[in-house]
Amino acid sequence: MKILLIGNGGREHALAWKLAQSPRVAKIYVAPGNGGTADGLSKTENIGIGSSEADFPKLVDFAVKHGVGLVVPGPEQPLVEGVEARFRRVGIPVFGPSPKAAKMEGSKTFSKDFMARHGIPTAAFGNFTDFEEARRYLESVDHNVVIKASGLAAGKGVLIPETKEEAILGLKQIMVDRAFGVAGDEVVIEERLEGDELSILTFSDGYTALDLPPAQDHKRAGDGDTGLNTGGMGAYAPAPIATPALLEEIRETITKPTIAGMRQDGYPFVGVLFTGIMLTRTGPKVLEYNVRFGDPETQTVLPLLESDLAEIMLACAEHRLDSVQFKIKPAYAATVVMSAGGYPGPYGKGDEITIGDVNRETTQIFHAGTAIKDGKLVTAGGRVIASSAVASSLREAVDRAYAGAKAVSFAGKYNRTDIGHRAFRKETEHVGGITYEQAGVSVDKGNQFVEQIKASVRSTRRSGADAEIGGFGGVFDIKAAGYTDPLLVGATDGVGTKLKIAQSMNIHNTVGIDLVGMNVNDLIVQGAEPLIFLDYYASGKLDIESAAAFVDGVAKGCRLAGCALVGGETAEMPGLYSGKDYDVNGTCIGAVERGELLPRKLSAGDVVIGLGSDGIHSNGFSLVRKIVEAAGITYFDQAPWEPTHTVGSSLLTPTRIYVKALLPLIRDNLILALAHITGGGLVENVPRVLPDDLDAEIDVKTWDLPPVFKYLAQAGRVPVDDISKTLNMGIGMVGVVSADKADEVIERLKQTGERVFKIGQLVAGSKVCRLKNTENWY
Ligand code: AMP
Ligand code: GLY
Repeated sequence: MKILLIGNGGREHALAWKLAQSPRVAKIYVAPGNGGTADGLSKTENIGIGSSEADFPKLVDFAVKHGVGLVVPGPEQPLVEGVEARFRRVGIPVFGPSPKAAKMEGSKTFSKDFMARHGIPTAAFGNFTDFEEARRYLESVDHNVVIKASGLAAGKGVLIPETKEEAILGLKQIMVDRAFGVAGDEVVIEERLEGDELSILTFSDGYTALDLPPAQDHKRAGDGDTGLNTGGMGAYAPAPIATPALLEEIRETITKPTIAGMRQDGYPFVGVLFTGIMLTRTGPKVLEYNVRFGDPETQTVLPLLESDLAEIMLACAEHRLDSVQFKIKPAYAATVVMSAGGYPGPYGKGDEITIGDVNRETTQIFHAGTAIKDGKLVTAGGRVIASSAVASSLREAVDRAYAGAKAVSFAGKYNRTDIGHRAFRKETEHVGGITYEQAGVSVDKGNQFVEQIKASVRSTRRSGADAEIGGFGGVFDIKAAGYTDPLLVGATDGVGTKLKIAQSMNIHNTVGIDLVGMNVNDLIVQGAEPLIFLDYYASGKLDIESAAAFVDGVAKGCRLAGCALVGGETAEMPGLYSGKDYDVNGTCIGAVERGELLPRKLSAGDVVIGLGSDGIHSNGFSLVRKIVEAAGITYFDQAPWEPTHTVGSSLLTPTRIYVKALLPLIRDNLILALAHITGGGLVENVPRVLPDDLDAEIDVKTWDLPPVFKYLAQAGRVPVDDISKTLNMGIGMVGVVSADKADEVIERLKQTGERVFKIGQLVAGSKVCRLKNTENWY
């Protein structure tokens, strides 16, 4: 097969190098090519035709005459100008998008509208053709912005202003003074995203999408990402920041929906789609689409492609990409670009280039701005030449690429000396706060954590929910769970300052149970069965061990309550929380058949029953901590009320979960009302279920005050009124049952292991809960 390759950069030299390795490629014609494609590659030949629109007829002519079987346009310009359609007309397949599909790069307003339509994550934006309107928009937003000329501007049409004044000035330059010509007829004003950038190159035939290893470019001219923007000064791949889980997220939320969306919209994508992605704190977002390979990413990723590139390209053009073998080498690659002195400003040309010995097994020298003049290799562009190397580690690949760069000499040569620095930076480095890692947020750690908790999450599976994490939201099949006419009930709650004790003691699993308990006990009092649970864990610095222990506890709580843990969120927020301190929240959704919703009709004479608590549960810990502190004991001392435990571990006893004991009785219509005893204690929680004309009379002598409450009341000398409104005093759940059913209910609850007491009755009154005999408490 003969190939016509269009372009003259380092990208095209790398493409020619890789294509020449294919046994099915006989010849590669390059238009116009460079010094590298002119010399040194056996199958290539520069044909002296350019790549601009005016050259298209000549290119088509040439291809027809020479029996070209595949056209490969390298740069975006010919693609946006419609080169694919020209060859399609004469029946020669093109590895590249149609003019319509090429608009994804050719028009930023087009691609932003596309992303908005298909729900693909990207920076907030507005599109404008009118300067006054654009200026008003700029004045109205309070985030940092990036201003982009909509049309092609050879990579220069992007302004990143630091102030509003600068932004308005830039806008005027683009829209009024026409700094980028017609490219500035339309502008996109976007929210400025912060984070690490990633280049994802995806082969597609319009249906299938195959990704090359994720690469990172180095856009600035100087070390440490300083100086002017360039076409790209080097790259490396695969970027370690792109963990398998992150790549999966990118595939599912960006790459696949893009390929599918373009097809659905009527312009299926054929070729390589280059998605520029920013890894922001809220997830990967698209910066831009390019409809061609990246430069210098191509020089980095093609050496990692094991499969036959010609085979893949032809399969894309023939819409049968699912038929090819696609293999990536398990290795790393790095590219160092060498530029002419002055670039990206004015620079000289025609300087002689010499290339010494390089190890061709591992290292390739890819030409960009080079030409052959009078038999000599000379400089002919800003980015002159690059050294790309492959190795089994990234460090080694970078070192080899630099060894290759050292072998190249020409007057004024300069290159960055820190290619790959983002991959090598330490987690503790804080440079300008531009990336996840630098900002103290570790993506890797987050993914490791997810792996760690998968099994305990899975253990909460139940009918209706598979309890697999990683989706966007938890799904529950309410019919599969057996409901016919359900009402949904939702609850959300936290654990409060009990977390402080967990953090001091470094015991993190019990508060996970508390979190579930607080939520599901709120659902059961409405008669609802807890079905799905979601948790949220936010810390200043994610500590995987404690976060995983916490989630283990949540899973255990879910098992105790019979609900599925279907999702959650772990957030790292340095600065908002200090150090490894964390806060948690949980949300539970449950269901109850319409006829079973509680409370029911209550009457004077109904019996009030109490279910024993397991200690303090999750309320009143600010008071508890104060009392402990005032008593001069630490959490590590023996608990004065429970000699087998320390103060801390006793206080951390998890909230009792009453769901499984109560649910069968609710379904048998034996329970009239339930009150979960949390903040407010008995006196404030019981009246919540009373009608206006009834009181609850509770005799506290009917159960023994557990020692922990006795100790806290005495040590803190807390008035009865106060403590009984803050702590549960030994009763975690109160139920109301009709007098004739009370014994049956109590018996059945005892059989499930509950401690149950007949604690009082309902009497005529005014929605008040009265406690009798509280003097016995002290
Ligand atoms: P573009 O031509 O859209 O690729 O923009 C060129 C470069 O500008 C990108 O690679 C980024 O470095 C930067 N950039 C573009 N859009 C944004 C944005 N919304 N937030 C931050 N940086 C951006
Ligand atoms: N390296 C960035 C690009 O090719 O657009």
